[in-house]
Amino acid sequence: MPLTTPVILDAPLDMHLHLRDGEMLENIAKASAHTFSGAIIMPNLVPPVSSKEEIIAYKERIMHAIGNEKFTPYMTLFFKPSYDKAFLESVRDDITAIKLYPAGITTNSEGGVSGFDVEELRPALSAMSDLNIPLCVHGETNGFVMDREAEFVSIYEKLASAFPKLKIIMEHITTKESVAALEKHENLYATITVHHLLITLDDVAGGMLQPHLFCKPIAKRPEDREALLKVALAAHPKVMFGSDSAPHPKHAKEACGCAAGVFTAPIALQVLTELFETNNAPLENLQAFISGNAQHIYGVTPITKKVTLEKKSFKVPAEYNGVVSMYAGEEIAYSIKGVKNG
Ligand code: NCD
Ligand code: ZN
Repeated sequence: MPLTTPVILDAPLDMHLHLRDGEMLENIAKASAHTFSGAIIMPNLVPPVSSKEEIIAYKERIMHAIGNEKFTPYMTLFFKPSYDKAFLESVRDDITAIKLYPAGITTNSEGGVSGFDVEELRPALSAMSDLNIPLCVHGETNGFVMDREAEFVSIYEKLASAFPKLKIIMEHITTKESVAALEKHENLYATITVHHLLITLDDVAGGMLQPHLFCKPIAKRPEDREALLKVALAAHPKVMFGSDSAPHPKHAKEACGCAAGVFTAPIALQVLTELFETNNAPLENLQAFISGNAQHIYGVTPITKKVTLEKKSFKVPAEYNGVVSMYAGEEIAYSIKGVKNG
């Protein structure tokens, strides 16, 4: 079915989301909880979420912050090579996935992994594989910034071969090399953000520097964006939407030493709808990219939510509770008309 307005999306899912904690959590949680049925919640708090008690307490804080919205936070743990099978069994029912960060590669990832020695990782990853816990990975080396993700593909492939039953999600992919890797290993999947479907490095740093578009991994070349668009618009069954919406206070973005992260939660569905429409992609593909593929990959059944969008221009607010979103102050073509729960 072609995409004609109004567009009704069923149970949107955001498979990579930063909700933060404390005041920021209270300020931004509803931006996602209003229009999404659920989201994979990233664990890179300070300190990172790494125990059963921390997962349970963080989930409670999220439920408090979303108030009356109907929304499922799919919780994750911050990967540590020391996790053993007994511990993983004890948290199995509290989590949907575990997120692995290379040490120091992005915001609050200092306690992550270095070296990627398969034998060192084997006990934890074998246990995850046995317990069917997906591994989400921030795939960047500490090489030259434009090459970090492409260099990491060999690590993805090494892990995918060593643990063939482990579902590995290549998070927020930005390169044609990552897209190609999807075809080579049955157990590799990927999330794609909305901003990486829209921008290249030119939009970040080609003219005046745009701190609100600065994130890890950095947006790449036009041919990379084309490769991402191709699989997203076709709703390739191994890719799913994950916004990587990563809010930072305005002063931390508009600063000497800009924090990495693009805040897209309030505009993601509207902008994705416009993108699929302008590329003549069918509504079924948008629906699969935004929910169906994630349901298959993760085996989750989201709560019912119908989001109606109409082709009516919407002026994105300059700030959203102290956070500047992508397209702040600009007009976007689609608006949220209504959200129906149940
Ligand atoms: C994220 C954040 O701010 O937590 N930043 C980002 O640039 N994407 C972390 C991450 O996902 O890399
Ligand atoms: Zn992220």
